[in-house]
Amino acid sequence: MIKKVGILDSGLGGLTVLQELLEKCPRGEYIYLADNQYLPYGEKTTEELRERGKLICRFFREKKIDLLVLACNTITATALDVFEKELQIPVYGVIEYGAKDALTRSKNKKIALLATERTVKSKAYDRYLKKSLEFMAIPCPELVFYAEEGIIEGPELEKSIAKSMEPIFQKNMDTVIWGCTHYPVLKKVFDQLGPKIQYIDPAKATVEAVARKITPSDEGKVDFYTTKIDKEYPRIIHALFGISGIRMKKIKI
Ligand code: DGL
Repeated sequence: MIKKVGILDSGLGGLTVLQELLEKCPRGEYIYLADNQYLPYGEKTTEELRERGKLICRFFREKKIDLLVLACNTITATALDVFEKELQIPVYGVIEYGAKDALTRSKNKKIALLATERTVKSKAYDRYLKKSLEFMAIPCPELVFYAEEGIIEGPELEKSIAKSMEPIFQKNMDTVIWGCTHYPVLKKVFDQLGPKIQYIDPAKATVEAVARKITPSDEGKVDFYTTKIDKEYPRIIHALFGISGIRMKKIKI
């Protein structure tokens, strides 16, 4: 029986996944870990992330979770097998679901991926998107920081997103995967700049698969852990996700 669900991201991006989970299964028991001391994951090497993954497994093992969602593309791309091996419980990453969803929904089968440097380099999406007519992966590491600081509009952000979208418009691609869980919070600017583009948030298809496996408890519960204290987090979480009243505990990993 799956009761306790762990959720991991390097920061607040994974809350796009938690938000979906709370919508689909509000009485689930969730343990969210923001490994913000180690952010950005996108700039770490594969080896560093796999080692970090092993340490994080100790935390989730102690918490006795029944299922883990890697609510982070970068750690999914580099260390999904590490979590599976160490924890011996079902582990869901966001990449397979996001890629398959994009393939199904794209009409002209020209698909772009926006992601961190590490996710792009890993080619983890490429293997699922081979069936597309055209595929292009663009690293946008700076977007993580806008989202993490709660900046979801403004000229600088617009400039940054416009630059990333340029080759996508040139190639007439109809679908863009937000291949980093921080990006969906920037939706407003993406929609403004590319209103005809279909954006894929991998959280949606992933949660679709996960939510039906969860056995709800009497009352829903979210335990929120961080590896670094960030006094701004409660304000930003409320502003971006409408989630309030979360008590944060700092842990050392
Ligand atoms: N949110 C993470 C992802 O989906 C990574 C952000 C980072 O720490 O670089 O890839």
